Parts: sequence; C-alpha cells; structure tokens
Amino acid sequence: CGDEIALTPTMGWNSWNCFGHEVSAEKVKRAADALVKSGLVDHGWSYINIDDSWQFNRDQKDSAFAGNMRDKDGYIITNSKFPDMKGLADYIHDSGLKIGIYSSPGPWTCGGCAGSYGYERQDAEQYAEWGIDYLKYDWCSYGGVINRPATSDPKTVPSLSFQGGGDLEKGVYPFQLMGDYLKKQPRDIVYNLCQYGMGDVWKWGNQVHAHSWRTTNDITDSWASVRDIALAQDKAASYAKPGNWNDPDMLVVGIVGWGNSHPTRLKPDEQYLHISLWSIFSAPMLIGCDLEKLDDFTLNLLTNDEVIAVNQDALGRQGTCQQTIGDLRIYTKHLEDGSKAVAFANFGLERLNLSYSDFSKLGIYGKQIIRDLWRQKDIAQIQTDTDALQLEVPAHGVLFYKLSRTQ
Ligand code: GLA
Repeated sequence: CGDEIALTPTMGWNSWNCFGHEVSAEKVKRAADALVKSGLVDHGWSYINIDDSWQFNRDQKDSAFAGNMRDKDGYIITNSKFPDMKGLADYIHDSGLKIGIYSSPGPWTCGGCAGSYGYERQDAEQYAEWGIDYLKYDWCSYGGVINRPATSDPKTVPSLSFQGGGDLEKGVYPFQLMGDYLKKQPRDIVYNLCQYGMGDVWKWGNQVHAHSWRTTNDITDSWASVRDIALAQDKAASYAKPGNWNDPDMLVVGIVGWGNSHPTRLKPDEQYLHISLWSIFSAPMLIGCDLEKLDDFTLNLLTNDEVIAVNQDALGRQGTCQQTIGDLRIYTKHLEDGSKAVAFANFGLERLNLSYSDFSKLGIYGKQIIRDLWRQKDIAQIQTDTDALQLEVPAHGVLFYKLSRTQ
C-alpha cells in the first residue's frame, strides 16, 4: 500500500504570482473567502497555498524577530504579516479549505527568506502542528550548501545541475530528508518539489515521498512561456499516476503580476489552450491571480466541470501528443470510463481549417460520440473509419473534445 493522498492533481490557489513578498495573513484569508464566495470551491478548488515571504526576510527590517529567525529549539518564527499561523490554518479549515506553505532546502529561499537547511525536522513538525496540508519545497541556495560553506549571498550560489552521478545524489538528498520528516508527522501533507525538473525529478520524486514536482521553469503570463512549458511535458508523462504528478507550474489567468499589476497577457484563446492542456497533462492546477478580482471570463474558465473532470480523472494517466500536423498538435488522454479526451491545439499564428479523419492514429475506433467540453455539448456522432470531422481551430487556440464509443 502506498500513499493515499493526492490521488488526483491538487487544485487551489497560490499567493506568489499576484502578491509576491506582499503576501499577508489578511490577504490569504481574503483569498480563502473569495474562493468560497466565487463558488470556485464547489468545482474542486480547495487549497490556499502561501508561497514565499511568511518567514524572516533578510532584506526587510521586521521587529517580529528581535534578531532571531528561530526560537531556541530551532522552531521557525513567522514574520509580522503572519502573527498567528495556527489561527490562519484554523480559519482556512473552518472555511472548508486546506492550507499550503512554502520553504527551500537551503538556508535561504528563492526570495531571500529563512529556509529549512539544518532545521528540517523542526519545520516538518511545525507545519504539522499548525495544521498545514501542503508543502512546496523549492531549491534555492542549497547548491551553495553542498559545494561550499553556506552563504547568504544568492549571487555566489553555484549551480548544481543534477547531471547524474554524485551530483544527482547530492541534489536528491535534501528532498529525501524533508520527505522523510513529513512522512513521520501525524498529518497528511502533500509534498511538492519545485526544482525545475533537474535530474529528471519525475524519475525519483516518488522515492522521496513527493506527490508532485515541477518539470520546468517558472511560468509567466506570456504565450511563449505557456507554449514552451507545454511542449516540454511529454517526456515526463509516463511517470504520472495517482499520487505522483508532473507540475508545469501555476495558471496564468486573471489579474496577475506582483501587486496585481495587470490582466494576464494571454489572449482568451491562449487561456483556453492553457487550461485544456493542463487538464490533459493531469497537472496540479494552482490559480495564480487575485481571487477578489475574478472577472466573468476567468471564472467561467475555471468552473467548467467537464474540463476539470479531465484534469481530475481518477485513472491519473497523463495525456500526450499523438500526432502533429504542421502547427497543430493533437493530444489524447485516456479516461477512466474508457473514453478519450482529445485536444486539437493550434500552436501556430493562423486559424486552421481541416477535415480530420486520422482517428486510428489516436487509437480511436468505431462509432463515437463527440462532445465539446468547453461548450458542454455533443456536437457529432461519427464512424471513425468512414467519416471526417470538420475542424476550425483558432490561432493559439484549442478544440477540446471527449470521444466516447457508442453502439
Ligand atoms: C521560485 C519558485 C516560484 C516562487 C519563488 C518564491 O522562483 O519557482 O514559484 O515560489 O521561488 O521566491
């Protein structure tokens, strides 16, 4: 018997892309309230994850610390924006939600806050005691620890690329350490590794008791970023299964940018493609925008139950690209009920019109009902060996269908 948690990909919200270092307990509470009030909670969105900046930040003066980042037993002290982490966790649990937190295995996190290095046991215990349900464990500054004495200057941290051999062992070790301590806690804590795919993390993540791992670099709200990340997912696909998910990073929808500086630069069709492919990929889906500023378009994008059902499908098989026709990439995902989700994703700049009949290339045979998942409507019934489907796929857009065999 294995881990019995994270049997479907995590769904929720993360503070980093909209609040960055400006995150606070108040903002996190308001995000939880908004998740409930907007109705997102009724569609499966349930984690409220605090990212970096709830701890001591070496660049900010904060009287909460009186010179100490930890107490005399090594337990971490929260900064003045998070005066009562246990109270916050209770508040979030009382709202019917779960709470996540963030740290790094090095002495410093990516944002220059106190990391877990040397205090892994205390941190795991503390998270459990607060009632934390999810840990995102980053990478920053650990390279500096293994290759030279600990340094507080991120510019001098050497890179460790996890190329294999000794490097791989050294790079896996800190994640193993935290994974072992989390496992010992009397509480289920989903464990997410955020180390950008180094050392092919999808091959060993489950051995360190992780439930998900970042396969690629940080996402930004640009088409190039979403495209490049999407194109890099197939290599890890065969490692995904219930409890083990490849993480292509957060959803860049809604009002994003630190301080909520702007609406996502992804065009509407690009957002449809983004969410469709994250569903095909069985990706953890963490909304990166300010939940208090959701517009109708974004809300509709995030509350389509038939699209979400593909992401959350219990079989847990990550879909992959089965066929490429010019700029069109056709992805399929096996679903538990025997049907297939099919995404016709147009990565090109031109709208595509085509008559499609290559169903055998997608492993799809016989009489099929075709359902448009975004429209939640059956659109055709076809005999795959004789019929063709007329497709019109917008530039940078997608047609997202479910094909089910019928008698
Ligand atoms: C890294 C991660 C981001 C975010 C920041 C916080 O860059 O990849 O998602 O957690 O650190 O400092």
